[in-house]
Amino acid sequence: MSKNIVITPGDGIGKEVTAQARKVMEYMAKRFKLVLEFTEVPIGGTAYDLTGTPLPDETLQACKAADAILLGAVGGPQWETLDYSVRPERALLGLRGELQLYANLRPAQIYGELVGASTLKPEVVDGADIMVIRELTGGIYFGQPKGVEIRNGERVGFNTLVYSESEIRRIAKVGFETAQKRSGRLTSVDKANVLEATELWRNVVQDVHNDYPDVELNHMYVDNAAMQLIRAPKQFDTIVTTNMFGDILSDAAAMITGSIGMLPSASLGGKVGLYEPVHGSAPDIAGQNLANPLATILSVGMLFRYSLDLREADELIQKAVENTIKIYRTADIMAEGKTSVDCQWMGEEVIKSLEQI
Ligand code: IPM
Ligand code: MG
Repeated sequence: MSKNIVITPGDGIGKEVTAQARKVMEYMAKRFKLVLEFTEVPIGGTAYDLTGTPLPDETLQACKAADAILLGAVGGPQWETLDYSVRPERALLGLRGELQLYANLRPAQIYGELVGASTLKPEVVDGADIMVIRELTGGIYFGQPKGVEIRNGERVGFNTLVYSESEIRRIAKVGFETAQKRSGRLTSVDKANVLEATELWRNVVQDVHNDYPDVELNHMYVDNAAMQLIRAPKQFDTIVTTNMFGDILSDAAAMITGSIGMLPSASLGGKVGLYEPVHGSAPDIAGQNLANPLATILSVGMLFRYSLDLREADELIQKAVENTIKIYRTADIMAEGKTSVDCQWMGEEVIKSLEQI
């Protein structure tokens, strides 16, 4: 049976990294005897320049009809002065909302080979393996009312942090089920000492825990969680948290690994899964074939695992990446004694490495 993969390269290095990831998908398709059909559609600033909107209807419809979506990155300085409603970032939020991708999985795993790349001490980070599960379609990102208006003669800006019990329950389930498949430990992060919405969060997570007695649950306030992530990251296994806290903590967790260019993500929950590297569009190096394609290639691994039910393909890709970085490095992870390669070369080395396992 053929599967329809939509690729939205987006802006900046998004085009370069998705091109390499596509080659890996084509190789894996042959290896696993799958028929993959690819459709490429514009998104973000590139789509705005072409059509006047960052998420054209044609792109949205293609995504809705896909079996899985691979996204590069969106954004760039030339679009930063646009109105909020047409900024490249809007396309991402629009896709998440429209496709009901409420569960964002962001693994932050340190590769033994890259321990020295972290700004933290090797003994603090060596072996760290954290899965951040971020609620992605609710909370302060989507809550109403929001805006900027004049009150008492001055401008007032406001957003609303709102969570319903059902929204918390479904993401909590993802948290417990993910923890079950990992080491069985779940940390729920909130600010229940100050914010009512997250007091409800804590109560509902506690309640869902009754269905997963084999998982060890603890609750942490977000400020403490930020501190603990830097102080002793290995105490964490799976973290489940709100949209905005997850945005912040997943960046912090990414830096523990020292190499944001290596981190993939999956956004799940609706009919179609969306996969993308955690890094951004890196306008400073765009178009120069310098970007690290590994985060996008690892996102393809997650795509095989979660959307095509091919866990083995994900494991192979992870292994191939691990083997490749023993020798070859893009600029962002370059180290003494390694061979410096560009984006395309790195993609080719991953495929060669796949051929050997
Ligand atoms: C992310 C990004 C996005 C977010 C932006 C680009 C809208 O920071 O995916 O983490 O805040 O969710
Ligand atoms: Mg972010």
